[in-house]
Amino acid sequence: MNDPLLVRALKNEPLERAPVWLMRQAGRYLEEYRALKAKYSFLELCKNPELAAEVTMQPIRFLQPDAAIIFADIMLPAEAMGFSIDFQPGPKVFNPVRSAGDIRALTLEDPAVKSSYVMDALRLVRRELEQEAGTGERKALLGFAGAPWTLACYLIEQGIYKHFQGTQVFFAREPQAALEFLGKITEITEAYLLAQLESGADAVQLFDSWAGNLGIDDYRRFSLPFTVRIIETIHRAGGKIILYLGGSSHLLAAAAESGADCLSVDWRTDLTIAFESVPKTMALQGNLDPCHLYQSAAEVVQDTESMLRRVPEQRRYIANLGHGILPETPRENAKAFVDTVKRGWPK
Ligand code: CP3
Repeated sequence: MNDPLLVRALKNEPLERAPVWLMRQAGRYLEEYRALKAKYSFLELCKNPELAAEVTMQPIRFLQPDAAIIFADIMLPAEAMGFSIDFQPGPKVFNPVRSAGDIRALTLEDPAVKSSYVMDALRLVRRELEQEAGTGERKALLGFAGAPWTLACYLIEQGIYKHFQGTQVFFAREPQAALEFLGKITEITEAYLLAQLESGADAVQLFDSWAGNLGIDDYRRFSLPFTVRIIETIHRAGGKIILYLGGSSHLLAAAAESGADCLSVDWRTDLTIAFESVPKTMALQGNLDPCHLYQSAAEVVQDTESMLRRVPEQRRYIANLGHGILPETPRENAKAFVDTVKRGWPK
């Protein structure tokens, strides 16, 4: 049987239409998610494999996108580094890094064991997707993790700073400790993503949501080398990997060197220019502004078609938003987005 459409896009195979899914497609814009959230905390949903599998499948049943992304969070593997976390609903770290000594003192556990509930949930979803497909083509299953830079943004004490400048200040003052910290996060992330591939994920996505906060020199120092290490590890294991960079129009040329199978860009980047900036073998993913899903359904269709028209013929492409779907998005508009892509290339 054929590989899932999204996997074929990542393998550079010719496709009849673009695959489509939405970042953060499980979540508060769905009332079935809110119903579960009334009974369980976010961490309880993540840590119970049956519930996590159910939440993963909610948008699949409604939207019928081409991929499911496992319900989890980029913060979860930080527990394997000794961090104590919660969500309010944004991430809260009770013991953030405050000094180089804190970084030196970190001890690492195996995230495949510490976060084994993610692996159990992946196995459950993979089985459900296979059953749903019967003899037809199955939807893809994606695993994910945060990129080391983005995870570091959450794990370092921010003090008076907003927009994670606390992490940039710490890194400017303590570059050696910064590199040691990023190395430790990289080690955990590699083991975590490999375990996800072994547990049934067809491919993984690395979220570097805050890459755009960095200037090009710092991106090349504090993010790209660690991202490359992770990508090479995934490739050595035969896996495929999508790299998401938030706010990153100024980083495209550097990201093009990452070796990722697919680069996911946000709405600030013109897709036409993005295609000119990356090698032909690299797929692109994105990039509708999630705010545009609050327009009328007819306008969503128009904007989605205009996005598709920017994709040059013969180039590999996965339709998606430029960032996660927002909590009060009208669900019919998310559906209109998916349906428009599934109708095929617009005239
Ligand atoms: O895509 C999916 O459906 C899978 C689920 C998923 C979540 N977080 C669930 C979640 C994924 C892929 C993530 C990734 C994630 N988490 C990122 C990278 C993507 C991005 O948006 O940049 C980041 C930076 C985080 C950290 C994080 N976790 C934030 C900033 C928040 C608060 C977000 C908000 O909307 O308030 C979370 C909590 C979180 N993660 C929620 C969900 C559904 C909301 C929790 C709730 O329902 O109370």
